[in-house]
Amino acid sequence: MAKVEVGLAAIPEGKNVVVKWQGKPVFIRHRTQSEIDEANKVDVSTLRDPQNDADRVKQPEWLIMLGICTHLGCVPIGEAGDFGGWFCPCHGSHYDISGRIRKGPAPLNLEIPAYEFDGDNLVIG
Ligand code: FES
Repeated sequence: MAKVEVGLAAIPEGKNVVVKWQGKPVFIRHRTQSEIDEANKVDVSTLRDPQNDADRVKQPEWLIMLGICTHLGCVPIGEAGDFGGWFCPCHGSHYDISGRIRKGPAPLNLEIPAYEFDGDNLVIG
């Protein structure tokens, strides 16, 4: 399967970028330190799909996820919703700054694709 390479130097802190990989949207967020802190202070035991932020990232400042709502597959909107992350307008699912489901009908956190870092590049796939 084709891999996609993305130059990370062009993505400023606090910004989202969406790229296509295998026909699917992949969300890349360059998180700020306060976003990382916020993601880590959540009590994981209260979550519907309990996952530590550290288990969802390889480098805390880079959050890489499939942009496909785990409810029925719409594409969530970035920098939206009640938890500082993403909001799916189809039926109102709110994801946090780690892409974890916090409110609404979606059952699971946004999925993390296979990826690796190669210097300043992100290689998805
Ligand atoms: Fe996202 Fe239903 S598809 S809330």
